[in-house]
Amino acid sequence: MKIVSIVGARPQFIKAAAVSRVICKNPSIHEILLHTGQHYDQNMSAVFFHELNIPQPDYNLEVGSGSHAQQTGKMLMKIEEVLIKEQPDWTLVYGDTNSTIAGSLAATKLHIPVAHVEAGLRSFNREMPEEINRIITDRISDLLFAPTQTAMQNLDNEGLKNITFFTGDVMFDSVLHYRELVFNNPEKYKTKNLPPSYLLATIHRSENTDNRKNIVSILDSFSKASLPVVFPLHPRTKKAISLIGEFPGNVIVIEPVGYLEMLKLILDSVKVLTDSGGLQKEAYFLGKQCITLRTETEWVETLHDNWNILTGTDRIKILEAIDSPLPTAKQKSEFGDGQAACKIVEYLESKT
Ligand code: UD1
Ligand code: UDP
Repeated sequence: MKIVSIVGARPQFIKAAAVSRVICKNPSIHEILLHTGQHYDQNMSAVFFHELNIPQPDYNLEVGSGSHAQQTGKMLMKIEEVLIKEQPDWTLVYGDTNSTIAGSLAATKLHIPVAHVEAGLRSFNREMPEEINRIITDRISDLLFAPTQTAMQNLDNEGLKNITFFTGDVMFDSVLHYRELVFNNPEKYKTKNLPPSYLLATIHRSENTDNRKNIVSILDSFSKASLPVVFPLHPRTKKAISLIGEFPGNVIVIEPVGYLEMLKLILDSVKVLTDSGGLQKEAYFLGKQCITLRTETEWVETLHDNWNILTGTDRIKILEAIDSPLPTAKQKSEFGDGQAACKIVEYLESKT
């Protein structure tokens, strides 16, 4: 069986690493890795290939940044060329980025079967570019791998039950796999010169970075937080903040870090503040309360017992959540059994 796996953005390298690790052990599968080039900085791309032992991409389309239409359009043209040349049995796409929709659309038009990993996520907020990418990718794919029962239900509601399989979440597989490595090498993965007690924050959603009122309100809450805020800065956010002024003194800005350093940053934090999808789950898996700087989440399983608090960008709500008690209830196991990647590869084999 020949698979073309399409990745392009930071979280997709992490998701694809879990699946590629299983594929590598199966000599009957030939995986071709296609990197669209959506993310290209060393610390947004190469670091993950290196740290997570992902083979070098067979193709790097070097599409780079641009408006949605420019970026997606360039990807479509270049992915089509590769798919025509490679003629795979399956195209595998991940998550909800522009690389996901470009991959699924290019393949479907060539009648090449598409399987979508992390299918069925819905925020029901169509202003998010990711929501459009998800809805369209799920609608045109041939196989949908759902990470949670909520995702299963969303796909059932859209009439897609007959092509949907529950696998669990590949990001849960990854946390289980790599956390031991971090536990066993704490000094290696520890970011230097951080205070002993801190909040960890990331922001990159367009509704926060591209809206001056929202970004100002978030930074204002960070400035008044009762603990220092460690802030690995996404390049999009760096650009946005450079237009509005300075970082508050309470904020420790660092460059984006590798995945293993990020797990260590989460483990050593008091709480996590984020608008990231992946980070909300990792906080939950690693037993840290998350304050989500959005008004809704796709990962509703994390919301019980105040493990994940939705504050939006309201300064007062963020500060209240920072000072709220830590959860005492246990997390639930709703993200599978840590074998999502194996299930995905098995299903693909059984359907070929
Ligand atoms: C993208 C995804 C988002 C995902 C996120 C993960 C879409 C529509 N959005 O958002 O779903 O959660 O990745 O991080 O696909 N930039 C650099 N260097 C890089 C990459 C980006 O400087 O290596 C800057 C560029 O100015 C670019 C901006 O960041 O215009 C945004 O990058 P882009 O890939 O378009 O969207 P993200 O915000 O990263
Ligand atoms: N991440 C990382 N380094 C960072 C920030 C995030 O390795 O400096 C990881 C994070 O642990 C998670 C993934 O990147 O695994 C999430 O990516 P991101 O927040 O960019 O996108 P999203 O999950 O929102 O699509």
